[in-house]
Amino acid sequence: MRRKVTVIGAGMVGRTVAQEVARRDYADVVIVDIVENLPQGIALDINQAGPVLGYEANVVGSNGYEETAGSSVVVVTAGVPRKPGMSRDDLVTTNEKIVGSVTEQAIAHSPDATLIVVSNPLDAMCHVAKNVSGFPKERVFGQAGILDTARFRTFIARETKSSVKDVQALVLGGHGDQMVSVVSATTVGGVPVTKLVSRDRIEEIVERTAKGGGEVVDLLGTSAWYAPGAATAQMVHAVMLDEKRVLPCTAYLEGEYGVDGLYMGVPVKLGAGGIEEVVELELTEDEQTQLQESADAVREVVGVLSS
Ligand code: NAI
Ligand code: 2OP
Repeated sequence: MRRKVTVIGAGMVGRTVAQEVARRDYADVVIVDIVENLPQGIALDINQAGPVLGYEANVVGSNGYEETAGSSVVVVTAGVPRKPGMSRDDLVTTNEKIVGSVTEQAIAHSPDATLIVVSNPLDAMCHVAKNVSGFPKERVFGQAGILDTARFRTFIARETKSSVKDVQALVLGGHGDQMVSVVSATTVGGVPVTKLVSRDRIEEIVERTAKGGGEVVDLLGTSAWYAPGAATAQMVHAVMLDEKRVLPCTAYLEGEYGVDGLYMGVPVKLGAGGIEEVVELELTEDEQTQLQESADAVREVVGVLSS
């Protein structure tokens, strides 16, 4: 029998994650949403792409949690997305209730699952999922850094007329406008980006990355889904296949990077045990200061949570 991945929320991000996981063909997928017929319709459509794309995963849509029982990974995308003029933080009150409720129902059926949170404001929603589930920190974490880093890598690749595959980079911190692009760890084919791109241009790219989510919202009237869905599927993959990938994820920190008792984006080793290690990079003094400022911004949003 195949293992099971549950995706809660059949909206734009949820359905993208579900299809990407199904395409990888090692797990069945259950999609849950409160809207009647929506998860069932999305599941049917994804199943019917199987013969064309060549996957056999069974995708089930449901408005309840019975079918999710025994999931290895539960991805939480339920919630309201950003609209133009809204910050991620504006979402906190609405999404706290939704993420709390879906987490409670999901873990009742899958007590051994690993929880991957996507709903915004991401760092704060990770706190909600951890508090409600009572799961160890290794099994509750969030997706943001892979997406933010992918945006940075895309811009650097275009700037240097290189393949995105050859740009190595890391974006850390909270999933907000104060995220930290670690320029000191950014290379193109092994060459430091600072040798290829002027400091002014790098600063513009760092700024564009930090506002990357908003740029898409302004164009589409809602937030992105292809890149967030792909980023989340990469995390599911790392856990399901025990890959031990080092990826930027939103992890609960207890002293690492000088941050205590807070979820924030840092490089981690991701495998079957969830977050198996927080990787501590050597940052420049300036980057470390920016990371502390980002932590302060996250703390402010977490402070808005009702519990
Ligand atoms: P969407 O509106 O397309 O989908 C959200 C889905 O959640 C809807 O289908 C809705 O019916 C469902 N939902 C609401 N309450 C529910 C409940 N109690 N139980 C089950 N399902 C429920 O939104 P989209 O674009 O898929 O975004 C989802 C979330 O992910 C938003 O909070 C958004 O801000 C966030 N996001 C996070 C990113 C990240 O990098 N962490 C990137 C992109 C989006
Ligand atoms: C993004 O960064 C809105 O968090 C979402 O696209």
